[in-house]
Amino acid sequence: MEIERGKKMEKQHHKATELFNWKSVISLWLCLLPALFSVGWSAPYKQVAPIVTMEQLLWVSGRVIGEVDTYRIPIITYTPRGHLIAISEARKHSSSDLGAKFIASRRSQDGGYTWTPTSFIIDDGTTDDGLSLGSVVVDDETGGIFIVYTLCAHYLHCSVSSLMITNSSDDGLTWSTPRNLSHEVGTKMFTAGPGYGIQKKYAPNKGRLIVCGHGTLDEDGVFCLLSDDHGSNWRKGGSLQGLPFNQRKRLGDFSPDECQPYELPDGTVVINARNQYFYHCHCRIVVYSTDGCDSLPLENVRFDEGLPDPAVAAGALYKGGVVYFTNPANLNHRVNLTLRWSFNSGVSWEQDFFQIWPGASGYSAITTLSSSVEDSENIFVVYEKGREDITESIAFVKINLYGRL
Ligand SMILES: *[C@@H]1O[C@H](CO)[C@@H](O)[C@H](O)[C@H]1NC(C)=O
Ligand SMILES: *[C@@H]1O[C@H](CO)[C@@H](O)[C@H](O)[C@H]1NC(C)=O
Ligand SMILES: *[C@@H]1O[C@H](CO)[C@@H](O)[C@H](O)[C@H]1NC(C)=O
Repeated sequence: MEIERGKKMEKQHHKATELFNWKSVISLWLCLLPALFSVGWSAPYKQVAPIVTMEQLLWVSGRVIGEVDTYRIPIITYTPRGHLIAISEARKHSSSDLGAKFIASRRSQDGGYTWTPTSFIIDDGTTDDGLSLGSVVVDDETGGIFIVYTLCAHYLHCSVSSLMITNSSDDGLTWSTPRNLSHEVGTKMFTAGPGYGIQKKYAPNKGRLIVCGHGTLDEDGVFCLLSDDHGSNWRKGGSLQGLPFNQRKRLGDFSPDECQPYELPDGTVVINARNQYFYHCHCRIVVYSTDGCDSLPLENVRFDEGLPDPAVAAGALYKGGVVYFTNPANLNHRVNLTLRWSFNSGVSWEQDFFQIWPGASGYSAITTLSSSVEDSENIFVVYEKGREDITESIAFVKINLYGRL
């Protein structure tokens, strides 16, 4: 076993040196490790033994309820008042990424037991290259909620991509007229998330709002939008560029894509990204920023072989000393939605895992509530779920982390 692992590492090392200076990666890890482990130790240790305590379908595709053809791209967040909002793309006419859409939302004020009927908070009209979700981010200091989405992400019937933002000051009941952020950050294509953005809770840059996402050819790779004034002004932070930069990618190229950031208590932002062309592995790309995403240095990149992945948007959350991660845990197919956890800030994952759904499962997102002790034992996951196809429905599951009903 050990010998096998050694061989594997040698192979990885050989491959990785094509792009990365692994000595600096390793030295970064050596200095991060003590900090990471001390975080693990100071956290209240409880044995994680997840069970699903509730599941319901929030959206069902196929014009079952209303006229919407397909629901995809689920995201979820807690709200400033301790409730839940689930958001998705309601694709009006087909399951394609292209085409006219609404942004659909449902709220729950009782921890996910009951949900408001769907409201369509954004309508992109009849355009053939409609909107793309997107991230939701809560400013805990002001109680504002923001949704960032993109118009014309695919350049099919349009040539200018616009980054749009809408915000709510009443816990997600009403939303502002969308503002065109491209006036500030330019029109190079950027799609946020899909997932949630974060507000920095620790130095450096405490209070900063960070929304990470990816570009396509005219600026491909992962980058983040930053706001240091509670969402009034936004600018681009550092980027992790695809390689070869700005060229069509082929299998095996480095192309970090859809991503989910989270913050560790030492102030490090970890971005867990889709590895679109399977550079080095069928697994996740992870990049660290120690300056609040002003930079995403290439030497802080790591390939997480503990997270096998078919190239998909995944969920990640740091909560109470533990990192949680959801994806369809399969090297090639979107099946087998699995929850994993790490007690050492994502350096390694526990052997144990929890299968949420064995069948077709695609994008997923995680949130949690901290308003009560009972709440704090749960995480809430939304994911694309089907018997045959991931586009069939969007499910919500409440998971008790300690096996309590
Ligand atoms: C958004 O702003 C950009 C840059 O000013 C502009 O080119 C684009 O047409 C605007 N988009 C919309 C939907 O108004
Ligand atoms: C958010 O929305 C409210 C109105 O609902 C508005 O007054 C406020 O300026 C908006 N922008 C920010 C950055 O909070
Ligand atoms: C599902 O994921 C678990 C955890 O990685 C793995 O052991 C199992 O083989 C997977 N099953 C399929 C069908 O991918």
